[in-house]
Amino acid sequence: MSESAPKAEPAGTMTRKRILRLLFGGALVAAIGSAVKPVWDFFHPAGPPPPIPPGSKIVAGEVGKIPPGSAKSFFFVTRPAMVIHSKDGQWHALDAVCSHRHCTVGFRPADESIVCPCHGGRYELSGHCISGPPKEPLGQLDVEIRGERVIVTKRA
Ligand code: FES
Repeated sequence: MSESAPKAEPAGTMTRKRILRLLFGGALVAAIGSAVKPVWDFFHPAGPPPPIPPGSKIVAGEVGKIPPGSAKSFFFVTRPAMVIHSKDGQWHALDAVCSHRHCTVGFRPADESIVCPCHGGRYELSGHCISGPPKEPLGQLDVEIRGERVIVTKRA
C-alpha cells in the first residue's frame, strides 16, 4: 500500500509549468496595464508643453488651402496651434492647448467654436471659454496674410 506523493520540484529549476505561469502572468499584467493606461491618462493628462517662445514666427499655411469656415492645425515650436479662417473672412490664430488640463483642442466648423475632446470645454474664436471646465482662455497668436502665405507670430 503505497501512495505516490506528488514529486516536489527541485528549487531553482524552470519546469514547463513555471514557464507557462510566468508567461501568463506577464501577459495578464500587460493586458491590465494597456486597459488602465488610457483611463489614467484621461483623468491625469501630462503637464502642459513648454510655452511658445515670444517672437517665434511660422508660415502656418496657404490662404487658398484654408477657405472661410475652416481651420488648419500645426505644430508651433513647442505646442500645437491652429489658424482659423472664419466664415466672415476674419483670420484667428490660437494656441491649441486647452487651459483646463492641456488636451489639444480642435475647430468645430458647424458653430465656429473650438472644442476640447477631453472634458467638453468650448471656446469662441477669440479664445475665451464659453462653456465647460476651463477657467482661462486659449493663448492668442497674431496672424498676418502676406500674399498667399498665412504667417503666425507669438507676440514678443
Ligand atoms: S482638458 Fe478638460 S476641458 Fe480641455
